[in-house]
Amino acid sequence: MKNVLALYGSPREHSNSALLLDYFVTAFRENHPDCRIVGKKLQSMHINWCKSCNMCKRIGQGCVQKDDMAILYPLVTGADLIVLASPVYWWGISAQTKTFVDRLYALDTSCFAGKKLVLLITGADEETGIQYRLIQQQFKEICDYLKMNFVGYVAASADEDRPVSKHERILHTVRELAISV
Ligand SMILES: Cc1cc2nc3c(=O)[nH]c(=O)nc-3n(C[C@H](O)[C@H](O)[C@H](O)COP(=O)(O)O)c2cc1C
Repeated sequence: MKNVLALYGSPREHSNSALLLDYFVTAFRENHPDCRIVGKKLQSMHINWCKSCNMCKRIGQGCVQKDDMAILYPLVTGADLIVLASPVYWWGISAQTKTFVDRLYALDTSCFAGKKLVLLITGADEETGIQYRLIQQQFKEICDYLKMNFVGYVAASADEDRPVSKHERILHTVRELAISV
């Protein structure tokens, strides 16, 4: 494992999903000292929506939009492992995370083959809530389509009053995942 791209999908500073991602990154780095980890906060980047202009497919030279996806595209194509952290928003991922995922449409699907994906999700509902399974299934389908390996998924119940920092079991699970990936 060489290159890791860690993406923070919450708009909030010190968010629950960011804490999970920080935990993952710290444990991963301890166990893979030679890896290169790049972390990006999607909220602080200028990323337009996919406009479905299909120029990426017609011309075949990537996305015609000029924004911060120009920074993320090479990080995605060069990554061996992508770790996405997002809050649950309306039974799905945050708009920041979804907008990033939509823009991956501009890349040739073959560039994703063999890459690993880890998903870290936080929502206010109990961990038995259907939103966590919906998101897991969505990314399982995406990974199957792109021939990526969906190697890890952690869903945590947390919000501002019940921060994930107090959720020892989940933090342990994230750490174990980072060690095993
Ligand atoms: C717009 C919005 C929609 C939300 N929708 C859901 C939801 O459908 N299910 C859920 O469990 N939590 C929902 N939540 C709660 C957040 O997922 C929860 O507070 C989470 O821990 C926030 O993660 P963060 O701290 O990483 O931003 C929603 C919060 C917001 C602001």
